[in-house]
Amino acid sequence: MKALVIGGGGREHAIAWKLSQSKSVDKIYCCPGNAGIAGIAECIDVNQDDFRALLDFVRYEWIDLTIVGPELPLSKGIVDLFEKEGRKILGPTKAAAQLESSKVFSKDLMRSHGIPTADYKVFTSYLHAEEYVRFKGAPIVIKADGLAAGKGVFVAASVDEAMDALRQIMKERAFGKAGDRVLIEDCLRGEEASFMAFTDGKTIVPMVSSQDHKRINNHDEGPNTGGMGAYSPAPVITPELQETVMEKVMKPTVRALKSEGVPYKGILYAGLMIDRGKPYVLEFNCRFGDPETQPVLSRLQSDLMEIATAIADERLGDITIEWKKDPSVCVVVSSEGYPGKYRKGDVITGLDEAASLEGVHVFHAGTAFKGEQIVTAGGRVLGVTATGESIADAKKRAYEAIGRIHFRGMHYRTDIADRALQRKD
Ligand code: AMP
Ligand code: GLY
Repeated sequence: MKALVIGGGGREHAIAWKLSQSKSVDKIYCCPGNAGIAGIAECIDVNQDDFRALLDFVRYEWIDLTIVGPELPLSKGIVDLFEKEGRKILGPTKAAAQLESSKVFSKDLMRSHGIPTADYKVFTSYLHAEEYVRFKGAPIVIKADGLAAGKGVFVAASVDEAMDALRQIMKERAFGKAGDRVLIEDCLRGEEASFMAFTDGKTIVPMVSSQDHKRINNHDEGPNTGGMGAYSPAPVITPELQETVMEKVMKPTVRALKSEGVPYKGILYAGLMIDRGKPYVLEFNCRFGDPETQPVLSRLQSDLMEIATAIADERLGDITIEWKKDPSVCVVVSSEGYPGKYRKGDVITGLDEAASLEGVHVFHAGTAFKGEQIVTAGGRVLGVTATGESIADAKKRAYEAIGRIHFRGMHYRTDIADRALQRKD
């Protein structure tokens, strides 16, 4: 069978890598891909935003299944078009993808179906929003409604910070139309975890748990990023809590969407805050997390092509999904300047040496070829991922591998997975 992966980051490298292990897959294409993906897939030069062109490519090459990595094509309806034309694709429709593309849609759904989440109010008027912040006080969370590449959320420690966030979103229009509506949420406390599941709209199968590291620097300091590292499993998600999340969050959400006339198929990702053993939803994503997918798919025993096909055919209940016991840790290596303006075009050395270490896999994110050499081409450059007998072992291997890699201005956190290692229970 032939597969097409849409996207070109670390998540898509992990998806393509996992597909490459499938007995039934004999060819993988990726649009646009990156220098690492090019080793296992044919990277194609089709405009990622041109769904008609992608559809033509799928028809011409007789591609059996398309997997969409990022949220943007989903929120713009790539699944609607492919399904209308009878093509198998993994992901939710445009209407269902609102779970991620509109925070108001997602919070309203949670509120009306009793799914645990922070209390909130929606504003279109700057004056009313200001008034509400003054009334509530700090800490308080301000969010732009629409997609803002992870930058539209402000956890304000003071009323001044909250006012500044409102100004940026509503007055300066820093996120354009994504800021037409603003959510003001109560601030939750606890430990965050990522919970992903496969679903065909009827059956929901949880993936192993994981935890992201959103800030750029050690000890969760500095600005938010797309994610600087992840590990799996996340010990905060105990087997009992996994059951609770399935019963109180995942199943009710899929049921709620169906009852509202927007059946959900694909990957459902809940960003959770765990407070004294209880889960609260911070956000939903309608796709695999990045970088959580790198350690999570590293632990997938079953065949990803088989799972994706079963979801597209709505027979997920007919298959069994198995995971490897060994934990996995992914450390993201980023370019100097990220998440602000960053350097590009620096030569990366030591990749082969790093990848030859036991249990290590180097997933590429922002990389490109310059002649024979591999150079940096994005903010997040690599996701150095290792599995081991324990989280400590996996972590040690990942950092050993990073020690072999070099490029000018490379940055990475040195405390990925420490939270799991420092747990007292
Ligand atoms: P989101 O994109 O909605 O997940 O928000 C990004 C990050 O902001 C989350 O991972 C949390 O760290 C933080 N955050 C979002 N909502 C809240 C909340 N209600 N309380 C505390 N922190 C939050
Ligand atoms: N790592 C967070 C996300 O994928 O949104």
